[in-house]
Amino acid sequence: MSQQTLSEVKEYYGKVLKGTKDLQTNACCSTESIPDSHKKALAQIDTEILDKYYGCGSPIPPALEGATVLDLGCGTGRDVYLASKLVGENGHVIGLDMTDEQLDVARKHQDSQAKAFGFSKSNVTFTKGYIEDLKAAGIEDNSVDLVISNCVINLSPDKDKVYQEIFRVLKPGGEMYISDVFSDRRIPESLRQDPVLYGECLSGALYVEDFRRTLVACGIADFRVTSQRPITIENPEIEDKIGHIDFSSINVRAFKLGLEDVCEDYGQIARYKGTIQDNPSYFDLDDHHRFESKKPVLVCGNTADMLSKSRYAKHFEVTGDKSTHYGFFDCSDTEHETSSDCGEGSSCC
Ligand SMILES: C[S@@+](CC[C@H](N)C(=O)[O-])C[C@H]1O[C@@H](n2cnc3c(N)ncnc32)[C@H](O)[C@@H]1O
Repeated sequence: MSQQTLSEVKEYYGKVLKGTKDLQTNACCSTESIPDSHKKALAQIDTEILDKYYGCGSPIPPALEGATVLDLGCGTGRDVYLASKLVGENGHVIGLDMTDEQLDVARKHQDSQAKAFGFSKSNVTFTKGYIEDLKAAGIEDNSVDLVISNCVINLSPDKDKVYQEIFRVLKPGGEMYISDVFSDRRIPESLRQDPVLYGECLSGALYVEDFRRTLVACGIADFRVTSQRPITIENPEIEDKIGHIDFSSINVRAFKLGLEDVCEDYGQIARYKGTIQDNPSYFDLDDHHRFESKKPVLVCGNTADMLSKSRYAKHFEVTGDKSTHYGFFDCSDTEHETSSDCGEGSSCC
């Protein structure tokens, strides 16, 4: 692990940036629309926390009641506190970050945020540590329902280790749900050495196909993109430096399940019960699987497992098993897909 990179990133988030307005590009800047329940919770979060928000997406999935959530690179705690409200008093949220200045702000508001949410005591723990070594931070194997991270993993000098750690600490069937910056090619070393480009969440970005390879190496053969947007930078000096590289902010979910590397048809049917809070009409598993409430949908084996072997299981009826194989699952069949952008021979991601 490059200590120099970690020190430079710590310096950037601890000393150089004082707030969201100091960012030099719009890479670490979320423009996503957010659900009403999130808006209500955010309205109860202290402005000091919100003014130092450097996220690039919204890595907060639904159905969080009672869950144990780990936020990697929590910063001043905006997503930790949002998740705190959504998991409720019986859930627990752990925020982990390596930068004291960020954690100091996060910790300062712990009691007042619990009070604002109407909790008798805080359900949040902030831990100083490195996302590459969650064991050293005391996070046990198979102990977490959901790992979230907002615009952080691109900053890590050892991303393989980060993803290995995520899938070590997740419980079987647990979910990784992250927003991060990815690139359309591998970034040249000269740009990776630029502390501002790196700190601004650009030149540490993982090439999307290397991200896929990294997850495969962790035993994750199928992941799902829930949303993505191009990063427009809007800083001529930085645009000149990065040339033709395209960056995107991508929201990804992946489950700790032994899934297949392509979609296969076992004749399984999934029916969403309409029971997830804030999602009475439909549930979006990803950017091309929308489950309308009460409507039976033919799904591939991987989708069936995601819906029946995760915390979403109580919200779905999944019928059928894998005893009979009917061949490759054609995602382009709009009869059971909301769009047809799945590649032939690939999984549904
Ligand atoms: C772009 S900010 C995002 C902060 C927060 N997620 C948010 O949305 O406001 C990146 C954060 O990740 C932390 N970070 C970066 N690399 C890290 C690492 N290797 N281990 C722990 N924390 C790290 C930084 O200290 C910083 O607080």
